[in-house]
Amino acid sequence: MNAADIHPLHLEHLKLENNLMLAPLAGITDLLFRVIVKRYGCGLVFSEMINSNGVLHGGLKVLRKMDIHPEEHPVGIQIAGDDPKTLSQVASMAQDAGAALININMGCPAKKVTKSKAGCILMRDPKLVETILLTIQKSISIPLTIKIRLGWDEQELNYPEIAKIAEACGCAFVILHARTRTQAFKGQARWEEIRKLKETIKIPVIGNGDITTCESAVRMFQETGCDGIMIGRGALGQPWLFQEIKAYAPPKQTRRIRWPEIKNIILEHLALSVERYGEPLGVKLMRKHFAWYSHGLPKSSAFRYQVHQFEREIDTRQFIESFFDSISGKDFDVAGAQTICDLPLGRQVQGSAIIAPSANQNIPTF
Ligand SMILES: Cc1cc2nc3c(=O)[nH]c(=O)nc-3n(C[C@H](O)[C@H](O)[C@H](O)COP(=O)(O)O)c2cc1C
Repeated sequence: MNAADIHPLHLEHLKLENNLMLAPLAGITDLLFRVIVKRYGCGLVFSEMINSNGVLHGGLKVLRKMDIHPEEHPVGIQIAGDDPKTLSQVASMAQDAGAALININMGCPAKKVTKSKAGCILMRDPKLVETILLTIQKSISIPLTIKIRLGWDEQELNYPEIAKIAEACGCAFVILHARTRTQAFKGQARWEEIRKLKETIKIPVIGNGDITTCESAVRMFQETGCDGIMIGRGALGQPWLFQEIKAYAPPKQTRRIRWPEIKNIILEHLALSVERYGEPLGVKLMRKHFAWYSHGLPKSSAFRYQVHQFEREIDTRQFIESFFDSISGKDFDVAGAQTICDLPLGRQVQGSAIIAPSANQNIPTF
């Protein structure tokens, strides 16, 4: 990694330790995953999208998405909606909840979101975008940012216009997921458009789309000149990717992530999930993570099938421990992880404080 690529980002009164960011992923980037990613060197994590109407009129479930853990600061809260007043009220609530910055979702392609005039459909109404941003700016003192796509479709590639509005409205940066709404997640993200945006506005541009390895992170910086990168799907099952990117310096040989570390991360994630969501929900919510974490391990399909049979933490934990014992000693590459890292061992999880806290340990409650 070129040392110049990874650097702190100064945003108004906020200094980000580095310019590597975790993308908002609905149903995935809850505070547990964010805390884990943070431990592996991510400079800024984002909450999943929070529906602004849901916050004002909905229940506890939506409100809990705004929970922030002390370990994950700084965190960006992402809000979706179309009504300037509602969005600004919720932005102010997020600021009070401890958000370091606010992000407005202008990129979600999902029908149920765009039908309610939120997400990517906002890009079709530049005047409304301006009103939303100016209204929110009046209600918060932390940085405001937007996340956009290239536009609605090939006929409406209006990301430069929306980004210029954001700049004029005092936004701190623009995140560009380089696909149109019509593309959804298909095809390849068009990084050349990120480079063009970089040449169009003066505020920082954060490049997003298809970064899954250290190599692709480097290429994103090199090909676009972006000021920071945001990683979504690439972090699933490999939250250590941020650490690897920071340490990446070929041709220097660094050690591979080994199964005991992966086991520790999985067990800790499970314990945190049960602590936050209770049993059996906390175990069930981990199933998708188990699938991602096991990607590339020997006997991973058997692992996935079997781990889905359990509802209690203790059974799940015992199974995971015995599974990892059974592959102990085998050497393997973790798919997608590119095996490059000077990884810290992270927290010592086996029999650790997180899983069995002792009275005098200050373990945050999730
Ligand atoms: C399951 C899933 C959930 C997502 N949820 C959100 C969201 O809540 N807010 C948002 O702005 N983008 C969301 N995205 C888009 C991602 O933030 C990101 O822009 C996209 O996945 C491209 O980046 P990647 O290739 O690094 O994953 C979601 C994507 C996926 C796959």
